[in-house]
Amino acid sequence: MRLGVCYYPEHWPESMWQDDARRMKALGIEQVRIAEFAWSRIEPTPGEYDWGWLDRSIDVLGAAGLQVVMCTPTATPPKWLIDRHPDILPVGADGRPRAFGSRRHYDFSSPSYFAASQKICTAVAERYGKHPAVAYWQTDNEFGCHHTVVSYSPAAVGRFREWLKARYQTIDALNRAWGTVFWSMEYRSFDEIDAPVATVTEAHPSHRLDYRRFASDEVARYNRMQVEIIRAHSPGRPVAHNFMQLFTEFDHYKVAADLDVATWDSYPLGALEEQWFAPEVKARWLRSGHPDFASFNHDVYRGMSKLPFWVMEQQPGPVNWALWNPAPLPGMVRLWSWEAFAHGAGCVSYFRWRQAPFAQEQMHAGLNTPDNRLDVGGNEASQVAGEIRTVLAANADADAAVRSKVALVYDYEAKWLFEIHPQGADFHYPRFAFEYYSALRALGLDVDVVPVDAPLDGYSLIVVPPLPVVPEAFAQRLASSGAQVVLGPRTGSKTKDLQIPANLPPGALTSVLPLRVWRVESMRPNVTEAVRLADGESAGEADGFARHWRDFIDTDAAQSLDVRARFADGHPAYVQGGAFHYLASLFDDALTVRLFARIAQEAGLETMPLGDSVRVSRRGALTYVFNYGDETHTLSGVADDALVFGSRAIEPQGVAVYRS
Ligand code: GAL
Repeated sequence: MRLGVCYYPEHWPESMWQDDARRMKALGIEQVRIAEFAWSRIEPTPGEYDWGWLDRSIDVLGAAGLQVVMCTPTATPPKWLIDRHPDILPVGADGRPRAFGSRRHYDFSSPSYFAASQKICTAVAERYGKHPAVAYWQTDNEFGCHHTVVSYSPAAVGRFREWLKARYQTIDALNRAWGTVFWSMEYRSFDEIDAPVATVTEAHPSHRLDYRRFASDEVARYNRMQVEIIRAHSPGRPVAHNFMQLFTEFDHYKVAADLDVATWDSYPLGALEEQWFAPEVKARWLRSGHPDFASFNHDVYRGMSKLPFWVMEQQPGPVNWALWNPAPLPGMVRLWSWEAFAHGAGCVSYFRWRQAPFAQEQMHAGLNTPDNRLDVGGNEASQVAGEIRTVLAANADADAAVRSKVALVYDYEAKWLFEIHPQGADFHYPRFAFEYYSALRALGLDVDVVPVDAPLDGYSLIVVPPLPVVPEAFAQRLASSGAQVVLGPRTGSKTKDLQIPANLPPGALTSVLPLRVWRVESMRPNVTEAVRLADGESAGEADGFARHWRDFIDTDAAQSLDVRARFADGHPAYVQGGAFHYLASLFDDALTVRLFARIAQEAGLETMPLGDSVRVSRRGALTYVFNYGDETHTLSGVADDALVFGSRAIEPQGVAVYRS
């Protein structure tokens, strides 16, 4: 467990560097990330490198006892490079190149950019690969930020055709897989296929899905190129990338497979403002962030990181980029930091050391104000540093891995498929995955977030949010896992080519859960359908309500199926067959929590009803309790001498840690 910070020596006079490094160290910071946007200073003119300033800044940090996270600067190609190779610029769906003047203005498929990136990465890795102060690497910065995964350039379309050839081998196979006979869209050769844009009405969904898969693979290929260069010149130094919160535009599992450390950038208040949450939810958690949001991301990135994951950028105060940018409540920067550690983080690194007085992010707080005084976030970071020492001294097991009995299956292609082919305008996959996750957290359960191909042994409960494509092997692994399995609506509803399965949904799952979804309907946001649990479990007329979607289930094929809840019109809303629980809709939060509590009990798990503002996480022998609410929360059954820090009466925005 250690703290870090993001630092931009190129933004400040050299005369400040030494004092900055000294103050970082005094604050309890151990690692400093640098240079991810510094290309124009590293190579001011083509082929002429200016290493002097970077050498000196790394030396200053190293001499102060700080470890450097060295970045490749490829998120910001300089003007001279763009002018030489305009094909670097990504092309929008309107066919127009996006302009120079901010950042991430590059196309993953541009051969000129690939070559230029190889060159700058090699230069930086050669120069600093074995520098004693350089302990880690970061590739690029936030792949895909500002909608930059998909580009419609001629280079991208050319590579897409190659990608299709490799996937389908023959054009006949592609025509069959896509079903291009519909509307006479058949192709005679791969070279006839363009990007799925600018069509009169919606472009073919299988075409669109493949374009997204292709674009995602391009990100993985580009990252792999950088990782290989770094590994060749800097053996033994772990390589990281900083992913974004709840970002789904490429398959993060594939990119993380090439890294040592998956890290992510945590801005809980900006996220709340920008995500789907209803206005009253945004108002409720305005200055604390949603209690499950950072937590969900920690679990997502922990699952794909070989070494303990990190938070590479932690919000330190108000940000600049959301529609509105509130200040965190006092205590929240500390709470967020501890929540990361409780979920298994190896490092929490704050963004940024000092607020910049110029350019796009001048309204974004840092640990220090622009006039170089410690800001609220800086003071809280210093408090966390002290508490880390307390925890480490009190418990040799504090750095242990998190082990959960609950798995939530999370899939990137599911997001693209439902977005391309929604059938109901607000069918938003990350939201529904998050709602299931949130229900589990409200029951005090620790959760591993895993991909479809993860090993599932050892879990007692596996929750699958709507997962359109269910491979046969996944259905079999679910069945042999021995866990109770919850399946959301639309699970198994499509083949990998985006067609309806021959036996109807849930497709491959039918072999383990013999039901048949014969019709579906989507529901407007203001429409709900009452749900009533089976006799003996029901509390009255309605036990909750369904939203967004309904699967109409035919259970006639199997006597073994048990209808445990029905919609008001009598159709099954929740069907159980052995250890499988199929939910035919998305239920309101209270009903979801209630059903999950009962299924968790059937799985032999102990739950605790936490409500919506207290959250608990366990790591090694320690239990961490977080109070996001506005009232004191009192712990019961915890002896005074079990507390590592905090008290049994946990104040709003407070944290308590105890030996379990
Ligand atoms: C991140 C990015 C940083 C900075 C920060 C501001 O998305 O990696 O460079 O822009 O947001 O919150």
